[in-house]
Amino acid sequence: MIRRHSRSAIFMHWSNALCWLFLLFTGFALLDNPYMQPVSQGWVDFWNGLVGGPYRLLNAHVIVGGVWVMLYTVYLLFRFKGEALPFLKEITDLHPASDMVWCMRKGLRLTIGEKAMRKMGMETELPAQSFYNAGQKLAAVAAVLSSLGLAVTGILMVHMAGDAGTEELLQWCLFVHFLCAGLMAIVLPIHIYMAALAPGEGPALRSMFTGFVPKAFAKVHNPLWYRKLGLDRQDGAAD
Ligand code: HEM
Repeated sequence: MIRRHSRSAIFMHWSNALCWLFLLFTGFALLDNPYMQPVSQGWVDFWNGLVGGPYRLLNAHVIVGGVWVMLYTVYLLFRFKGEALPFLKEITDLHPASDMVWCMRKGLRLTIGEKAMRKMGMETELPAQSFYNAGQKLAAVAAVLSSLGLAVTGILMVHMAGDAGTEELLQWCLFVHFLCAGLMAIVLPIHIYMAALAPGEGPALRSMFTGFVPKAFAKVHNPLWYRKLGLDRQDGAAD
């Protein structure tokens, strides 16, 4: 087995996931306007009934948002150099041509299947990936940028509730807040499907609990990372 995620990264991932899902669900329920409501009036009524009205719902949203920002602030203070920086380097190590080919082929493999692709004369082999595959890198970049946008505009809006700022700034904050949340409402179902439900991803999902992936899994899914760790040389020496 190879270590893939540290204990602190696992803790951050799942606490982040819980906060995100709560914030997304309650955020949608706060849109009490039929022209802006993306789910249904039933969703608004459900959450208002659960927490005791729109004022309490907004409070719950702000409190969980504050806990989420504080968790990240503490994590970044203690783990910026050791974990956050290497993570940022890994997800921004983009290779546009091969990343695009990976996304297109992976998408087709999951939708029409490899058999149909071969029948149409298409290549099914995926370009070799490093620690994260192209899809994970794009989802992670979207998550980081949206997190920044949501945190900054969220904090500004809480300050503006105390009569600071202008109406124009408030409108801009709301626009950016909705834009980031809307982007992640599209990206997250894809991330959750690809990470937890897509065929063959079981070992990756388990690694988000145990921290480890089987060597054989990494060799097939992340061959460039496998090579970077020098495990291919060990395989060669054992042969
Ligand atoms: C129930 C929901 C979720 C499930 C089942 C899930 C599953 C996973 C799994 C299995 C991985 C590891 C993939 C690998 O090792 O190759 C992962 C990584 C990641 N997920 Fe999630 N995820 C969920 C929610 C979220 C949310 C809400 C976010 C952010 C908004 C998020 C952001 C990330 C990021 C940035 C990574 C890479 C981080 C790292 O490797 O330490 N996930 N997720």
